[in-house]
Amino acid sequence: MSAVVARIGIVTVSDRASRGEYEDLGGPAIRAWLEHALTSDWEPVVRVIPDERGQVEATLKNLCDQDGCCVVVTTGGTGPAPRDVTPEATEAVIEKLMPGFGELMRAVSLKHVPTAILSRQLAGIRGQSLIINLPGKPAAIAECLEAVFPAVPYCVDLIGGPFLTTDETFIKAFRPKQK
Ligand code: MTE
Repeated sequence: MSAVVARIGIVTVSDRASRGEYEDLGGPAIRAWLEHALTSDWEPVVRVIPDERGQVEATLKNLCDQDGCCVVVTTGGTGPAPRDVTPEATEAVIEKLMPGFGELMRAVSLKHVPTAILSRQLAGIRGQSLIINLPGKPAAIAECLEAVFPAVPYCVDLIGGPFLTTDETFIKAFRPKQK
């Protein structure tokens, strides 16, 4: 049996990046962070889409159900502006809300910027996939991933996904019940 290669969805939600009006910095920043963090085999599935709720929902469903991503990380569209709909789209496609992710990411982000409270970022489970919203600012990506990622491999274990391992000198995964 060949080893399962974990697939991780990386979704940039941005009108301007999707139109090519500016370079997508968020998606590549997530990818670079994950390349640094993960020691188990994985492959990225990358999407850059506009702030259209229907398109965000369809993309998330596709990455979870067709592409079989165990984790899907979004960036952008979490704020209060009229076009910010990533949390609504995420909430519409998940079966279980994981409030601890948003709580922790906002708490940690608040140490960096007072506007952290403007992000409505959330996380949740759809089938065997964990979806995590990150804000659009590239600086927010490392700040938020550093906070929540130690719990991600165990969360993926619990939903029946592949066994993710990390470079412990960079980020240490915590598994309460080590075999
Ligand atoms: N979180 C971190 N860690 N770093 C940041 O710079 N920016 C905030 C907030 N969260 C920020 C952050 C700002 S200014 C906004 S408006 C919200 O995220 C929403 O950003 P988004 O709409 O690009 O998702």
